[in-house]
Amino acid sequence: MGIKNTVESYGTIAKILHWGTAALFLAAYGSYYYRHWFTEEKTPENFSAIQVHFSIGVTIAVVVVLRVLWRMANRTPDLEPGTKLEHMAAHAGHYALYAIMIIMPITGYLGTGANTNYFFMFEIPQFQNTRIFEFVVNNTLGMTFEEFEKPIDFIHKDVFGAWIVWLLILGHILAALYHHFVKKDRTLKKMTTSKRIS
Ligand code: HEM
Ligand code: HEM
Repeated sequence: MGIKNTVESYGTIAKILHWGTAALFLAAYGSYYYRHWFTEEKTPENFSAIQVHFSIGVTIAVVVVLRVLWRMANRTPDLEPGTKLEHMAAHAGHYALYAIMIIMPITGYLGTGANTNYFFMFEIPQFQNTRIFEFVVNNTLGMTFEEFEKPIDFIHKDVFGAWIVWLLILGHILAALYHHFVKKDRTLKKMTTSKRIS
């Protein structure tokens, strides 16, 4: 299997990055809902679960940078035959997924009032305690952390976290299944088993 993408298929690196991101998204949701449903507030488990959520989110931020760089470094496989509208929807869907991969970790980090203890190995300081916060938010915008946090949290939790991310990923999965089982084309194979054809 080739490392790079070709006109016919995604290469190994793109597949690892894609399925790695999918697993990390599942884990980000899993850690949040585990905390929400199965732990009591202010217990060690509750704290650990949110720290795992932060750590996974930060990992997604790193992976998305690699992903964007890798996408720019080699070509994207051609879409399967379809109408112009289908192709436009596929491109729009992919860009929207890239957007959430960027927006979610950023809003998560900016709005969090605690340090991230990255997988319990080292600390990443919370935004509120950084020079950037002091310069941009405090001095330039003249806002306190509480004022700044509210709209950011709203985007992370209520708009994207609770709705848009789910809907986009659900639509994406349904589109992949539609291609595989209804149109019976190579869309899903390109991201899974398909061998590279140079
Ligand atoms: C792609 C990455 C991420 C995804 C998909 C994600 C997803 C979510 C979701 C679904 C929620 C709950 C929304 C609801 O209330 O229904 C949430 C809450 C939260 N997330 Fe994230 N998140 C990500 C990254 C991060 C990062 C990097 C941080 C911080 C470093 C963070 C901090 C938080 C906080 C503080 C909450 C609120 C917890 C609470 O309500 O007590 N998230 N996130
Ligand atoms: C079970 C879950 C998933 C399935 C079955 C799936 C399937 C696929 C398939 C078949 C493609 C190739 C589409 C094409 O070339 O036309 C693809 C591409 C893509 N997927 Fe997923 N995916 C899943 C989860 C995710 C998640 C969670 C994300 C991000 C949050 C994501 C983001 C993307 C992006 C951005 C592309 C475009 C890749 C590029 O051109 O750089 N996928 N996915």
